[in-house]
Amino acid sequence: MSDTTYAPAADFAAKAHIDAAKYEEMYAASIKDPAAFWGEHGKRIDWIKPYTKVKDVDYSFGNVSIKWYEDGTLNVSANCIDRHLTTRGDQTAIIWEPDDPNEPAQHISYKELYAQTCKMANVLKSMGVGKGDRVVLYLPMIPEAAYAMLACARIGAIHSIVFAGFSPDALGARVNGCDAKVVITADTAPRGGKATKLKDNVNQALLNDFDEVKCLVVKRTGDQIAWRDGLDYWLHEEAEKVDVDCPPEEMNAEDPLFILYTSGSTGMPKGVVHTTGGYLVYAAMTHELVFDYHEGDIYWCTADVGWVTGHSYIVYGPLANGATTLMFEGVPTYPDASRFWQVCEKHKVNQFYTAPTAIRALMGQGNDYVTKCDLSSVRILGTVGEPINPEAWNWYNDVVGGGRCPIVDTWWQTETGGHLMTPLPGATAAKPGSCCGPFFGIEPVVLEPTTGEIIEGNGVEGVLCMKDSWPGQMRTVWGDHERFMKTYFADYKGYYFTGDGCRRDEDGYYWITGRVDDVINVSGHRMGTAEVESALVAHSKVSEAAVVGYPHDIKGQGIYCYVTLMGGEEYTDELKTELRNWVRTEIGPIASPDLIQWAPGLPKTRSGKIMRRILRKIAENDYGSLGDTSTLAEPAVVDDLIENRMNRG
Ligand code: WT7
Repeated sequence: MSDTTYAPAADFAAKAHIDAAKYEEMYAASIKDPAAFWGEHGKRIDWIKPYTKVKDVDYSFGNVSIKWYEDGTLNVSANCIDRHLTTRGDQTAIIWEPDDPNEPAQHISYKELYAQTCKMANVLKSMGVGKGDRVVLYLPMIPEAAYAMLACARIGAIHSIVFAGFSPDALGARVNGCDAKVVITADTAPRGGKATKLKDNVNQALLNDFDEVKCLVVKRTGDQIAWRDGLDYWLHEEAEKVDVDCPPEEMNAEDPLFILYTSGSTGMPKGVVHTTGGYLVYAAMTHELVFDYHEGDIYWCTADVGWVTGHSYIVYGPLANGATTLMFEGVPTYPDASRFWQVCEKHKVNQFYTAPTAIRALMGQGNDYVTKCDLSSVRILGTVGEPINPEAWNWYNDVVGGGRCPIVDTWWQTETGGHLMTPLPGATAAKPGSCCGPFFGIEPVVLEPTTGEIIEGNGVEGVLCMKDSWPGQMRTVWGDHERFMKTYFADYKGYYFTGDGCRRDEDGYYWITGRVDDVINVSGHRMGTAEVESALVAHSKVSEAAVVGYPHDIKGQGIYCYVTLMGGEEYTDELKTELRNWVRTEIGPIASPDLIQWAPGLPKTRSGKIMRRILRKIAENDYGSLGDTSTLAEPAVVDDLIENRMNRG
């Protein structure tokens, strides 16, 4: 790892919201008196009834309760739209760049955003949705996705977005998980020149068990779709029938704003619940300070609204700040590897925020795709989702940023609502590959993995936990508070456990070393190995499966599956293809196995537990350090797996 530091230029720091001295001062204040600090920063959003209590947090296992601004009331949609109407009604709120570069981009003003959101809110009401009801969104990256989120927030409904790349089965499980009343979707989603039939997927997901769930459909392409009479509604038809005004519902700070399912180390994905007040304060503040957002900037985050990054840093944070946020329907390599940079040039983007996997993929295509575009508007670059290797960081810095744009490597999680550790562009001397240090109010601690003792000092490594709460923290797992406490507060009592390992170097900089649980990170997408395993064993020919991550040049980690077949089944290449397709339809293309190795036997302890540590080593081609295999029931299994590894494919 490289230890060169990149300090912000003096003229950059002078114009930034936060310089090094201000960071030190504000950070100290935020830790010394969190209630005073967050009491002050809570004022960056508008409250209907101001809060008198700021923080009420109990981290003790068995009793975990997290409340911020608990007696305040507000509406998120009013904060993201209405309060800007008098000052910036005609300013562009959303620039929409379609998949096909020949289709015109749209510029949606705050006034237009108001009208569209209110209409969608009234349509949802007319379909019987009210405060506290759940609405699932299964949408492409189109402006209607933002309208739908804000429309739910406006009437106090709780949205749960399902990434449009998930399969009908995965969608069905999420509709069921939160008992949704309505699903909002589109006819077809164009992406990278290909089309996904979203409405057909919804029909398939709802077919058997959910024949009372209504569906609101956005006409994106006009493709022919199958209609469920009496249950399906076209948005454009319903919008004609309703009022253009919809008064925002008064919500308590701790009312849920959204649920977002994310993978864990065991079982089905869990519904992360974020609430209204603290989440918005945190998303807005981190968006402003981490991206050094200034009035008039054009800001672009390339994520999908199906992930938390899209929630906090395409929609809620930027719009709460009255920003112009760019929404991109396509992919980085369509029509070719220049698309990101062409969009930056076309819309004069000032802040550009993407994932290391995209940077690595584009880096491999050569510099011409970048250098032929005029990127002089770009001032700040960001990354998120996984550690960025210094080589990719340097390419991003030199070729994309021309050596003049600070890079913010933002470490955070679905659970954290917003950035927890990141450089601040005008304040931090960044090190390539390090997320540097904490945002205001964040107290990271490194714990000894087995004892849970705090490891003080620098030049240390352990598991990463947080000592205290912050306003954007998740509050519970939907419908299962017990699981929330068990997942995050049981292993290390009194701390929030992130699931990540980390190193704090000699200078006190943090380096994320990856997950310490059975979660893998594939192209910045989080995947529970247990989920892929249960998809595999659901196939009639599979008797057992063990899934691990392995280093992958572009994706960061790839999905490596060891598969044992039922007695009498034949181990063939055709079956590998069949299993790959099977997982794609069970979960979605993002869970598609990269490598399958036939494993007539799996290494197990005498009590029958699969020893993944060994499987990980074999997947990494690291046979020298398999560790102690003496506790295995059948040690010879390991030799067989190593010998037969050439059948991986
Ligand atoms: C996990 C969270 C937060 C939005 C995207 C992913 C990894 C995330 C970084 C980073 C190193 C990172 C961690 C974390 N991660 N950002 N900058 N450097 N690792 O959200 O799906 O909830 O995944 O992604 O392992 O725990 P998520």
